[in-house]
Amino acid sequence: MDPERFLDEAIPKVQAAVPAPSKAIVAASGGIDSTVAAVVVTKALGERATALFIDTGLLRRGEVAKTEEVLNGAGVPHRVVPAASDFFRVLKGVTDPEKKRKSIGETFIRVFEKEAVALHADYLVQGTIAPDWIESGSAAEGKGGPSARDTIKTHHNVGGLPPDMKLKVVEPLRDLYKDEVRTLARHLKVPAPERQPFPGPGLAVRVVGEVTPERTEIARVACAVVEEEVERAAHDGKMPLPWQYFATLLPVRTVGVIGDVRTHADAVSVRAVESIDAMTATAVAIPHDVLRRISERITRELSGKVSRVLYDITDKPPATIEWE
Ligand code: XMP
Repeated sequence: MDPERFLDEAIPKVQAAVPAPSKAIVAASGGIDSTVAAVVVTKALGERATALFIDTGLLRRGEVAKTEEVLNGAGVPHRVVPAASDFFRVLKGVTDPEKKRKSIGETFIRVFEKEAVALHADYLVQGTIAPDWIESGSAAEGKGGPSARDTIKTHHNVGGLPPDMKLKVVEPLRDLYKDEVRTLARHLKVPAPERQPFPGPGLAVRVVGEVTPERTEIARVACAVVEEEVERAAHDGKMPLPWQYFATLLPVRTVGVIGDVRTHADAVSVRAVESIDAMTATAVAIPHDVLRRISERITRELSGKVSRVLYDITDKPPATIEWE
């Protein structure tokens, strides 16, 4: 992919899709895809574009500050919209992974619609890339045509769009794969987000079963421990930094013991994978001493809440990267 040629085509396409004086809001997550999309659209539309970062309550530790740093570094004017209570309300009682994604997708859109009214915007720009819609199956392609693929997962920014949505969607990176987005990011001098890819539905897909503020906090602490320990191990030369490394809270309560008191608490899985484009992935080896430290820290920092730490060594396929 030649970045210059891509931009020569993409910028006029965005200008045609959002004719003056119409305005667009940009769904910014701080991840590389939406940040690159925001830069392309800011180049195309200037002040007619406004980037919004939604604080869903499903974010990793430190995510708001990190995202603001990335967007500032990329020169993207933006605003943070606090919306955690909206998301936890729709997730109450939901355990089915597809329903979770759709509820989250719809809530994102409702929050964006509310903001769009205030900003007089008619368009919503998303950083959707090719694997997002390929994995979301034919229904998400929006063309009504047959597809050879079945739905693997409805990625929230594709299949979760409600049918009555008022905003018109613009997706400037729709045909690109992850490695191409990275090439474009380097060309645009977008500060490489230091952090690994993170799914749009956030920690909700790392809490298997019902997503509550309390269970999300357990996943947040466990993910932070895995991130810190794997990054430390990579920094110390014990292992290469993997594509993704995280913890998932399982809907399994197991028996443990603290002192001489029996506990009945949650189980957490630890996973690290290598991948090129997220379409396939290989589970990578975390050195045993690092795993032991992760287990020791998770059970200490979540004492009484997590009593067992498991290590997931499954490739994609047959598993997917996330548990849901
Ligand atoms: P899976 O779990 O499908 O994930 O192997 C492939 C890559 O996509 C991320 N992921 C998502 N990203 N919306 C997103 O924007 C989603 O619903 C979603 N689900 C998974 C995942 O973290 C991995 O990088």
